[in-house]
Amino acid sequence: MYNLLENLEKLKLHFKVVKRDVSKIIRINHNLYRNDYLKVLSKLLSITVPSSEFSISELLQTRYTICKALTGLDKLSIILTFSSLKLLELALVLLDKDVEDVYITLNGLYIVKKGDLYKVVDVNHEELIKQLVKLANLSGYRLGPDNPSIKFSLNVGSLRTRVSIDRWPVTDGYSVHIRKHKRIFTMTDLIGNGMLSLDQASLIIAQVLSRSNLIIIGEPGSGKTTLLNAIDLTIPYSWRRIYIDETDESISIPKTLQVKIRSTDKLIEVLKTLHRGWGILIIGELREKNHFEAYNHSVLSGLQVLGTSHADSPENLAERFRLFNLNIHGLEKLVIVRTARYEVVRKVIDVKYSRSVSEDLMLKIKNILKKLLRSNMHPLKFSERFQKELIKMGVPV
Ligand SMILES: Nc1ncnc2c1ncn2[C@@H]1O[C@H](COP(=O)(O)OP(=O)(O)OP(=O)(O)O)[C@@H](O)[C@H]1O
Ligand SMILES: [Mg+2]
Repeated sequence: MYNLLENLEKLKLHFKVVKRDVSKIIRINHNLYRNDYLKVLSKLLSITVPSSEFSISELLQTRYTICKALTGLDKLSIILTFSSLKLLELALVLLDKDVEDVYITLNGLYIVKKGDLYKVVDVNHEELIKQLVKLANLSGYRLGPDNPSIKFSLNVGSLRTRVSIDRWPVTDGYSVHIRKHKRIFTMTDLIGNGMLSLDQASLIIAQVLSRSNLIIIGEPGSGKTTLLNAIDLTIPYSWRRIYIDETDESISIPKTLQVKIRSTDKLIEVLKTLHRGWGILIIGELREKNHFEAYNHSVLSGLQVLGTSHADSPENLAERFRLFNLNIHGLEKLVIVRTARYEVVRKVIDVKYSRSVSEDLMLKIKNILKKLLRSNMHPLKFSERFQKELIKMGVPV
């Protein structure tokens, strides 16, 4: 039995690509999971719930933890946790290392793999939509004609995803988009894979350490959140971090003080209470009016702000503020980083800033990054190492 589990865990390809003339089609290999022991485990998990009042993330975590304790295997535990929620087919496509996005519409299930779109056949896509909507409702997101678009996270073990569901009247029927975060990238990982240069990375970190505000702009999927999380790993541990993070895309850095605001109702009131301490505000995505207001409000109160927004130029970003009858405040210390996507490659196109920072600080950061380049460290280990190096270099943190 253990051999079977290990083989499943090591399995790289969960599905076969079937070439067709017009569209690319993928077929899931269900047979691997038609096994009695796995069926029993999945059944056991489906009746497992946390003992006290619980959220979806706790439910998933409990099931994953039990399965991981029984099997010791991450991938298999993810598969069985999803399977206990009748989402087995979704786990199979999400676990492919090259998959970035999954779309489910009334027409079927599609995946984006290495920049190519494939249709996945032999799946019950309608059942998947039904289960995801059920999960969203369980999480307290009321999806209905008066609230037709929601976003929430589905994180299990090493798998981190953001689920967006739109329904009528925004779309015809239901439409689901799942963004998979491949993994957590550090600043040196991103330099290593060509997303940005050593100079750009040093400039961005030096600006953030000098208390500049920063907005990462770029088209959907261009790596904004990935870069924001990488920057987060370089911020001093002594700074209190406040996140506006409805979709749970930020990372947990255990040794730091992190406050995560999940709901944007009464956002400004919540921020007012949080301003009493010193810190940095990280807005996952400036999207709705209250996000843009929160940005301005915080900048005016002297809180440093980092965030991402869909805009393809600084002018369009300003336009997005104007749509809500707002001007961008704090322009004198704003940095705008622009990202773009060319098929599978993500790049920082430029970094625009209004005030320069000390050359000495930039040089120190450059030297730290150079030292940590190619070290292939776990993100949290990298973050600790980065702190230590800052202190060694005499950078006030
Ligand atoms: N430099 C990179 N190298 C490899 N993969 C990357 C890189 N940057 C981002 N990705 C992957 O690309 C996908 C999109 O990234 P991300 O979610 O950060 O984009 P985004 O710009 O925030 O998108 P959205 O606008 O939808 O929020 C994710 O799967 C992520 O893991
Ligand atoms: Mg994003």
